[in-house]
Amino acid sequence: MHILHVVGARPNFMKAAPVLRALGKRMHVRQSLVHTGQHYDVNMSDVFFRQLGIPTPDVNLGVGSGSHARQTAEIMNGLEGVMLERKPDVVLVYGDVNSTVAAALVCAKLLITVAHVEAGLRSFDRTMPEEVNRIVTDQLADILLTPSEDGDRNLRAEGIAAEKIHRVGNVMIDSLVELLPATADVPRNGLADQYALVTLHRPSNVDDSATLNGIIEMLVELSAAIQVVFPVHPRTRQRMETLTADFSRLHLLEPLPYIEFLALQKNATVVITDSGGIQEETTYLGVPCLTMRDNTERPITVEMGTNILIGQSGRRLLDEVQRILRGEAKVGVVPPLWDGYTGERIAEILCGAGADFTGASAGVRMAGR
Ligand code: UD1
Repeated sequence: MHILHVVGARPNFMKAAPVLRALGKRMHVRQSLVHTGQHYDVNMSDVFFRQLGIPTPDVNLGVGSGSHARQTAEIMNGLEGVMLERKPDVVLVYGDVNSTVAAALVCAKLLITVAHVEAGLRSFDRTMPEEVNRIVTDQLADILLTPSEDGDRNLRAEGIAAEKIHRVGNVMIDSLVELLPATADVPRNGLADQYALVTLHRPSNVDDSATLNGIIEMLVELSAAIQVVFPVHPRTRQRMETLTADFSRLHLLEPLPYIEFLALQKNATVVITDSGGIQEETTYLGVPCLTMRDNTERPITVEMGTNILIGQSGRRLLDEVQRILRGEAKVGVVPPLWDGYTGERIAEILCGAGADFTGASAGVRMAGR
């Protein structure tokens, strides 16, 4: 069986690594890896491949940045030739980035079986580009691998047949479990005993200068109470260069490698973010998380974990941090199947008894579409 993985952006890499490893143990599986090049800076891509032990991609499309339409179209254009040449039996796509939806579209048109890792998540907010990517990818996928029960429910509500849905757990937690011991060696350069770790890159928070300026001013105010450590995403850095706010009191860093960022999360007093994955990582680590969004596609982190949605309200942010500093942080539990074995469960579904996506059976499936 030939399984081809498509990855492209930073949050894909920690999801693909455990699946590549688990499938690598199966003698009858041949794997190929395609990097679309959506993310291309060394510290947004290569360093993650190195730390997560991901092999060098067989193909790098090198599409780079662009508008949504252009980037998605260029990925599709590049992937079509790769699929026709390599003829995989199954293509695995990850998460909700433009590379994910582009690959699902190409494979659906070529009648290649698509498995979506992290299926079923919904913010119910179509102003988020990722929400559009999630909905389209799930409608096109043949195998939907969900992290939690809400994912199954969302898919069934959209008319997806129950037999296509497999709850496997949170694959990103596999990478976290694997590399958490390595964080012990990361030096605490310039960090106070207590600090707030900040990440911001959602268009809704950073693309509008007035909004971003307000958020930065709020973080500067927060820095009077606690050190603010802020590794800045390239999208956010570009916008910050045009701001009037004086952010010299913030401890700004370049985007960090996986292990270094995990160490920062593990030791943080509080994490302030608009990332999806970080809401999950903090829930696993038991670190308080304040999410600067009005909604989340990962509600389980609010229901069971340490996450609180605070929107863009500065007052709320300062109040919640004060509460945490008083020792009254929200306490959570780790959701079911966030256990480090999701990659194995995915490999079992793709290769286990009764699974045959090769040759004749794929033909039957194609004829039945
Ligand atoms: C993308 C994903 C988002 C994910 C995020 C994680 C989509 C729609 N968005 O957003 O879901 O949470 O990645 O990082 O797929 N840039 C660089 N170097 C890079 C990559 C990007 O400098 O290696 C700059 C470019 O100027 C680019 C901008 O960052 O225009 C945004 O990159 P893009 O890939 O379009 O979206 P992200 O904001 O990174």
